[in-house]
Amino acid sequence: MKIIVADRTDPSGSSSIEQIRRWHRDLTGGPIIGLVPTMGALHEGHRSLLRQARQECDQVALTIFVNPTQFSPDEDLETYPRSLDQDLQVARQEGVDLVWVGDRDELYPAGFSTRIDVPMMAQQLCGISRPDFFAGVCLIVLKLFHIFEPERAYFGEKDYQQLKIIQQMTRDLDIPIDVRGCPLVRESDGLALSSRNLYLDDAARQQALTLSGTLFKARELWIQGLTHSAEVCQQALEQLDPAVELDYFEVIDREHLTPLEKIDPERGAVICMAALVDGVRLIDNIILETR
Ligand code: PAF
Repeated sequence: MKIIVADRTDPSGSSSIEQIRRWHRDLTGGPIIGLVPTMGALHEGHRSLLRQARQECDQVALTIFVNPTQFSPDEDLETYPRSLDQDLQVARQEGVDLVWVGDRDELYPAGFSTRIDVPMMAQQLCGISRPDFFAGVCLIVLKLFHIFEPERAYFGEKDYQQLKIIQQMTRDLDIPIDVRGCPLVRESDGLALSSRNLYLDDAARQQALTLSGTLFKARELWIQGLTHSAEVCQQALEQLDPAVELDYFEVIDREHLTPLEKIDPERGAVICMAALVDGVRLIDNIILETR
């Protein structure tokens, strides 16, 4: 009989929950499964998640599902880009083992009524103008975690707030999954890759480029020695095209997402932003590394 007692002074340093997970893994064995949840319309950013999963896992599962619970009634659920044939081609090229295309009625049958929320982190930044978004993301991601039971799951740092909220939910609920963030991928001109870039015409795309322009400028100011967030933001935002409708541009803590008045050189920070460009909502961010 094996006995596991929660003991914070255990010299191995592993918690009792980690020990139970190891016990379970040793019994069930099997390949390491990596999960890459997406809403399809796959681009280079998704490819980078699939490649990282391919390198680190025995089996790679890709999910494609435009999740209705993360869209509010006035958003683009019906028109969100869908390109299944192309997505399957990408999956084949990246050596995916299993593609799962979700179905709304199967995932949310009549009578479905559970809600998952990480309120502190979800009620700021994107959560202010999209109050139900992160609850919807957490709900589908938790369902996918249960359906696939992967060892690892891969999300892009492009959706920085989403990544941190999923990591928080996973920790809070003792879910035995390692949630890994993969670096944001940009076009050669700096535009952060997003399925919604497909909505931009040439003029809007030029305006959209000024989003990454503000972030690059902010990073330059940080490297030059500025530490007061207000100063960094004010000077950086001079780069933004006046036609762009800014939602937020905030210097926040990298883990807790709390706003920072001043950036601690030993902790660094992240700047997250969202804006409407010709009616298209885009987000972007930049990490200010420690100096
Ligand atoms: O980032 C996305 O594409 C979606 O929010 C996710 C994580 C697949 C949940 O629907």
